[in-house]
Order: sequence, then C-alpha cells, then structure tokens
Amino acid sequence: MGEGDEEPGFIQLEFEELPADEMLSRARDFYKQMDTRRTTRHFSNREVPRELIELAIKTASTAPSGAHLQPWTFVAISNPEVKAQIREAAEAEERKTYSERMPEAWAEVLRPLGTDHVKEHLSDAPWIVVVFRQSKRQRDSGEWGPTYYAQESCGIAAGLFIAAIHNMGLTTLTHTPSPMGFLRDILNRPEHEHAMLVMPVGYPDEGAKVPNLGRKSLGNISEFFD
Ligand SMILES: Cc1cc2nc3c(=O)[nH]c(=O)nc-3n(C[C@H](O)[C@H](O)[C@H](O)COP(=O)(O)O)c2cc1C
Repeated sequence: MGEGDEEPGFIQLEFEELPADEMLSRARDFYKQMDTRRTTRHFSNREVPRELIELAIKTASTAPSGAHLQPWTFVAISNPEVKAQIREAAEAEERKTYSERMPEAWAEVLRPLGTDHVKEHLSDAPWIVVVFRQSKRQRDSGEWGPTYYAQESCGIAAGLFIAAIHNMGLTTLTHTPSPMGFLRDILNRPEHEHAMLVMPVGYPDEGAKVPNLGRKSLGNISEFFD
C-alpha cells in the first residue's frame, strides 16, 4: 500500500526485520531458555511483587484471540484466606477424583508425576492465578452473544503467561483440579466465565524436585513438506 492509502481503522504495522544470523541466534536462545522450563509442585512461600504478576497477565493478554474478543479473565489471588478456601475445595474434589473417579488409563500416566490429592502449592505459593474462559460477551446492543474459539484463545494466552513467568525467573504449575466449578463461586465470577487453569506462581522451594521427564524429539512431533 502506498502513501495516502490509509484506510480508517488501520495503522501501519510496526515490523523490524532482523539480520538472518540474529534471527537464528535469537531463535536458538529462546528455545534453550524455554527448554529449561519445568513444572515443579514444590513452592516457596517467599513473596513476589504484584507488579510481576500484572506484567505476566499483560503479556498473556497480548495473545491472538478469535475475533479479538480476548475472552479471558485472569484472577490473581495473594490473600491467604482466599487461597486456603481454594485449597480446601480443590483437595475435596481431587480426593474424590484420585480415589473414585479416575480411570486407570489416566492414573497410569499420572503415576510417574507422583501427584495426589494433596495440593500444598495452593497455600504455599504467594500467588495463585486462575484463568477463566468467557463463553459469552455482551454486544453493543446489550444482548449476549457467543465468543469464538475461546478455548484455543485462552490456551494460547495461558502459554504466554507461562513463558512470561519463566522469563522473569519464577515458576508456575499448570493445575487443573477436576471439576473446578467451585472457583466461580469462591471468586465470585459470572455464569458465562468458566475456570480453565489454576496457576500458582512463585519461587521454587529449596530442594524442589521435578519428575525426570524427557521431551519428544523434533522428528516425533513434526512433519515437514519441504
Ligand atoms: C492442561 C494441563 C493440565 C495440567 N494439569 C495438572 C494438574 O492438575 N496437576 C499437576 O500437578 N500438573 C498438571 N499439569 C502439568 C503437567 O503434568 C506437566 O506440564 C507435564 O508433566 C510436563 O512437565 P513439564 O511442565 O515440567 O515439562 C498440567 C499441564 C497442562 C498443560
């Protein structure tokens, strides 16, 4: 598009082309950094400033989203009473899941992770961030309409949140207590918001452990048509 072709509602894309060698070194460095991310279930109760959590949420909200509806609400909790309520309700559900509701096919893949119904991270970590997916939005007319690809959009936003937390030198756990309807009640969210992920954020505890897992190789996760 040439000068003078401005369309209302559009602005010039800001794009800085990088030299080829810099692209490669940045790509390698980012991969290396992200490859050190791990999910630990052992958190320290050391404080984390609210501004870091705000920045991680802002980073998450740079995610692309279906029709740019940004169909997410991030609820950040540092209040110890609210964290205790969440832990109690999550453990009550998880106790039933682990003892009664979990099919063997699920139990078999969880065994190497060493998880159980006890969720210390929900009270130990200084912050818990809960991602809610919005299934509806209010139209200009005041009527309610659907959101589009909200699952995918929130998944991408959560990925950016996790990357932001790792990049700032903290750790988070992607926790999915099942079912998690209790979060809407405790956190006072509206009917059209559905809790998706519970992410404690903080420093790892001293001596925190992680399962000894490998990651699939490029050949196992991709197919190229050159
Ligand atoms: C959608 C999703 C749900 C998860 N749910 C749980 C969970 O409920 N409890 C838990 O301890 N870890 C949970 N995890 C963490 C995974 O177990 C962990 O990411 C996986 O074992 C790989 O380990 P890594 O993150 O260290 O690479 C979840 C991860 C994802 C992406």
